[in-house]
Amino acid sequence: MKPIVAPIVAIDGPAAAGKGTLARRLAATLGLPYLDTGLLYRAVGVRVLEANGDPSEPATAEAAALSLQPRDLDRSDLRGPGADAAAASVASIPGVRIALLAFQRDFGARDGAVLDGRDIGTVIFPDAAAKLFVTAGLSERARRRWLELRAKGTGADIATVEEDIRQRDAKDAARAAAPLKAAADAFLLDTSAMDADTAYQAALTFVRSRIDTG
Ligand code: C5P
Repeated sequence: MKPIVAPIVAIDGPAAAGKGTLARRLAATLGLPYLDTGLLYRAVGVRVLEANGDPSEPATAEAAALSLQPRDLDRSDLRGPGADAAAASVASIPGVRIALLAFQRDFGARDGAVLDGRDIGTVIFPDAAAKLFVTAGLSERARRRWLELRAKGTGADIATVEEDIRQRDAKDAARAAAPLKAAADAFLLDTSAMDADTAYQAALTFVRSRIDTG
């Protein structure tokens, strides 16, 4: 049975797996709104840092999550090692996740959406029409992230990039609240040996088999 109304496409996976590029492209093709849910956690983490708070302190992080405004997602300082680590810290606090739940569900409620994150298919939209778990080997993900940083002119050492990703994945997978894991009914897409176009075609074929966009 292919749902026609407001389809949700849930894309989860570890850091730097190419989820964002894939999700944005699928959303454009399918005519669906797109939400990068990592931005929510990044914005909460950066707000805490900005107020000289500790991102691992529950009360502080929850207050920042509860007062989050949509315009916070447009900030230009949500990427980078400080924001990465702060996001992963606030993301392990259950109260933060609860505070951000309604925003994510509301986003997809009316017109459907493509969302990428860590728990979209497991927690946020367990009934999503199509679920993908996108991954690639650690060294390949580090290489891709390093190339991206280099293209932006950010000098980064590949070993440091790999270690940051490894630590963030370990933290995301080990936390009790909505850990990083594939939903039982997710389509597993390992892009280690694929270029972006091949990954996109594989994802699109799967999504089209699950939803009917008319
Ligand atoms: O996807 P991105 O790398 O921008 O996410 C930043 C951090 O936010 C992740 O390392 C993770 O800790 C957290 N996150 C999460 N759940 C999501 C999206 C992101 O816990 N749905």
